[in-house]
Amino acid sequence: MEQLLALEMVRVTEAAAIASARLMGRGERDEADRLATEAMRAAMDEIQMAGTIVIGEGERDDAPMLYIGERVGAADPTGSVPEIDIAVDPLEGTNLVATGSANAITVLAASERGGLVHAPDTYLEKLCVGPLAAGHVDITVSATENVHRIAEALRRKPGDITIIILERPRHDALIAEVRATGARIKLIGDGDLSAAISCAVSGTGVHAVMGLGGAPEGVITAAALRCLGGEIQARFRYRSEEERERGRKMGHGDETRVYRTEDLASGDNLVFAATGVTSGDLLEGVRFFGGGARTHSLVMAYQTKTVRFVDTVHMFDRERPPSVRL
Ligand code: FBP
Repeated sequence: MEQLLALEMVRVTEAAAIASARLMGRGERDEADRLATEAMRAAMDEIQMAGTIVIGEGERDDAPMLYIGERVGAADPTGSVPEIDIAVDPLEGTNLVATGSANAITVLAASERGGLVHAPDTYLEKLCVGPLAAGHVDITVSATENVHRIAEALRRKPGDITIIILERPRHDALIAEVRATGARIKLIGDGDLSAAISCAVSGTGVHAVMGLGGAPEGVITAAALRCLGGEIQARFRYRSEEERERGRKMGHGDETRVYRTEDLASGDNLVFAATGVTSGDLLEGVRFFGGGARTHSLVMAYQTKTVRFVDTVHMFDRERPPSVRL
């Protein structure tokens, strides 16, 4: 079931990627997000499943579709379809698409009921690493100590590892601290979810993500890192009393609590799918050609221990199909 679902889910992220990639570099971030969301929603309704959005575009009143609690999936007259929870980010990196920059992806994670934490749209302090450094880091110690632990786990010097940090004023002190260790830093404008996945894929040249980013992205990151054997540690961080109250209502009132990968994505039947919109460290972006497009995706299933890179040619015109190239 999980395997089949994974392959269905990649069609969902592919559809969203093709729709939003049309707007690459056109300065229309909201429109790119809208197109991705609509395409994702439509593609989900072609899958025989009883899905519930647990992380989506926002609360019911704020988001026209893919809102938290929304039911998705094709109705099944026999009623035997699986009940699943779905976390989506129809377009991670709306600014990246608007400016034609690297690493924008469409992404989702799915699980059996209750397998993904319900997170408010606030920040998480995150520490993400790949399989070699998993089990060696600790978000409660200093960034300096973690850089040394990661370097040691990778049998390198701090100067030979690269940490990804979102370029934000709130990270000035963190950036200065990491620089002082000698580690290399990749400052990114957006997209700490795709950055965290890259850390767990050998050959991407990046080794950890540190700093505050979106909590919803953190849950999807946890699903991906469980499939890849990496690790995320995280703590909720609120900017206001209103956010703190929202967090408390969802059971995340304790700001000292460290959430681990399995806390954020506890499901046994986790499925993850992402498709590149603009080319980046991990995935190629959408390439259009006469009569079609080519997409590059990552599809993973936890239970069956499979990680697939999927290269798909989409033929828009059956009458005049494009020639498929290697
Ligand atoms: P969008 O997908 O909404 O464009 O934003 C992506 C992102 O950069 C995430 O990757 C990150 O977790 C979050 O926004 C950071 O939020 P902020 O821009 O408030 O620092």
